[in-house]
Amino acid sequence: MARSVSAPRVVNISDLRRLAKRRLPPIVFDYIDGGSDDEVTLRGNARAFEDLTFRPRCAVPTPGLDITTTVMGEKLALPFILAPVGSSRMFYPHGEELAAHAAGAAGTAYILSTFSGTNMEDVRASTTSPAWYQVYLCGGRDVSMAMLHRAKKAGFTALVVTIDTAVAGMREKDLRNGTKQLLGGGPSMLPYVPQMLAKPGWLTGFLSDGGLMKFPNIMLAGGPMPYADVSKALEESMVCWDDLKWIRELWQGPIMVKGVHTADDARRAVDAGAAALVVSNHGGRQLDGVAPSIRVLPEVVSAVRGQIEILVDGGIRRGSDIVKAMCLGAQAVLIGRAYAYGLAAAGEPGVARAIEVLRADVIRTMKLLGCQSVKELDRSYLDVPSDWR
Ligand code: FNR
Repeated sequence: MARSVSAPRVVNISDLRRLAKRRLPPIVFDYIDGGSDDEVTLRGNARAFEDLTFRPRCAVPTPGLDITTTVMGEKLALPFILAPVGSSRMFYPHGEELAAHAAGAAGTAYILSTFSGTNMEDVRASTTSPAWYQVYLCGGRDVSMAMLHRAKKAGFTALVVTIDTAVAGMREKDLRNGTKQLLGGGPSMLPYVPQMLAKPGWLTGFLSDGGLMKFPNIMLAGGPMPYADVSKALEESMVCWDDLKWIRELWQGPIMVKGVHTADDARRAVDAGAAALVVSNHGGRQLDGVAPSIRVLPEVVSAVRGQIEILVDGGIRRGSDIVKAMCLGAQAVLIGRAYAYGLAAAGEPGVARAIEVLRADVIRTMKLLGCQSVKELDRSYLDVPSDWR
């Protein structure tokens, strides 16, 4: 039976995280929740928002409050977009389709990961709002070319090219939990079966939706790429700046570069002809020890000077985090775990609840700030520590 995700059971994203933890076996929960190495960047992403303090304008009415934005030419009802989150099908049956549907119902965009467990055509058909396709070049250029043609035909209107994954980050929890063995199948999965049996609700759903993970949008000669091959595939086909040129010529449409950590790479993204970039460290799942992304945002904004749109992600758990990012110059933000927890907790109602919590937070924050449009947000609404570039 579906459990309620309304208040008072769920009032914030932490509540969805708690429910996700209760429903999932540790292998799946830790896959969502964890970061790389010592998780310094993972923690830093969220904590850095606390260093930014608001400077509200009190007693200012906000009639006709506007929280809409435009990204890569697409008008969005909300200033946040659902980030690419691989293997969402593992969190809840038909996970990618449910998340895309919830995004569409709220009037915002959904970005489908290359590591989707669901056919891209079915995901695209689940939403009437913009859907963008996130690209890894798994399987090499020929396999990727077929994937991109397929994405265009399916109706994805933009690509999101992730550049921070030269190799999979070291997620120690996944290694200890045996995520690869368990989800890849074969006899090496046997020691891990008890933790799945301990979560029958999750297990029944997972098996009813096809069980073992494969990636149907990465079609190799022998069929869809299996889960167990992810690390090798990433390492063999990392995205380089040259590839970006190739992707751009092939795609002939807007491209967003995701995974910018420095002003230098931001300039490279501009030179590569990107329409937008995302300041992102992959939610602290790749190189541990890099700066929190919100901290890098000012450096990137001043390097790019309005030439392309800038988004940011990492550690966003409150609408006030979204407003702070926009005060620093972000056009919009991506949310990852915030909706993944909702999906894992309760399927589509859980994603819808995550979106609603953040939407209501943004509106309340704007009213308390005395600002009537997210387009008017700027640094005058914030105190920024003097050592932030
Ligand atoms: C991700 N992220 C990610 N990014 C990407 O470009 N391709 C991918 O396949 C994935 N997969 C993925 C799986 C899971 C479980 C998570 C949590 C994240 C990174 C994601 O798009 C985004 O950058 C981060 O999630 C943002 O940080 P927060 O919001 O999770 O703190």
